[in-house]
Amino acid sequence: MSNTATEPQAAPARVATKRTILMCKPTHYTVSYRINPWMHPEEPTDTSKAVEQWQSLVDVYEQLGFDISYIEPIEGLPDMVYAANGGFVLDGVAYGAKFQYPERQPEGPAYMDWFRDAGLRVAEPVETNEGEGDFLLIDDVILAGTGFRSDSSSHEEIAKVSGRQVITLKLVNPNFYHLDTAIAILDPVPDASGRSNIAYLESAFDEPSLAILRERFPDAIIATEEDAAILGLNSYSDGYNVVIASRATTFAEQLREKGYNPIGVDLSELLLGGGGVKCCTLDLHPVGTDTSVARS
Ligand code: ARG
Repeated sequence: MSNTATEPQAAPARVATKRTILMCKPTHYTVSYRINPWMHPEEPTDTSKAVEQWQSLVDVYEQLGFDISYIEPIEGLPDMVYAANGGFVLDGVAYGAKFQYPERQPEGPAYMDWFRDAGLRVAEPVETNEGEGDFLLIDDVILAGTGFRSDSSSHEEIAKVSGRQVITLKLVNPNFYHLDTAIAILDPVPDASGRSNIAYLESAFDEPSLAILRERFPDAIIATEEDAAILGLNSYSDGYNVVIASRATTFAEQLREKGYNPIGVDLSELLLGGGGVKCCTLDLHPVGTDTSVARS
């Protein structure tokens, strides 16, 4: 009798792709205000430790051969280290961020200046949005979060700017206030099976959003509450290597089972501001790579 139905399927071979990203050194990092439940301004932070830990993330990315650009940190903007919020870049166009909280609003123009200097065309935002914190490219669609930070009207705006289909997902737990705290993109380009996969935290979404995720990503990794509670999902993948929080041990195991290579880093100091690996990483999606070239 055959028991193939119960045998685990072999994970497809994973292919690492070279990533091109933007980062910001946490030179001026601290927690001086509270705009998410992770932040406790009354508790001390250690800026030099934040810099050291951030440097360890840079070191990992360098070892992986990533092409890293840096934006100059600005004094008085302690959250600027979370570069993912600086905008959304695709096809040579940077859709600028328009932050919800006044404390971060000056970051929007600062990042737009960087994009312009880098030769990108900047689409100035009208609607409130926090960049790649809430917009995640997967294949030829953009998953877009709302509920806490980015306004759903920005989903229409980014659809116009990018010409891509945008799928709205509603976040319901204030601890997971940006989409990149609740979903990890595992494949910047489709894997050998022709699909791109994600990992996500079910309890972070409302029911209609969950139905979309379940239908679209039947093989997704379902993250544990424990891993999500240290922002374990806030990770960055090149298609094979997945840089994650070192404490997200179950997630690491789940990734290994699917043929990925999890690499743990400790960003505990930056977690005090409510951010992790992905928050520190803005994907620049250079033209001619990934899905920035339309596939027929
Ligand atoms: N303190 C920052 C804020 O609340 C953290 C941003 C984290 N970034 C992210 N992409 N999830 O805005």
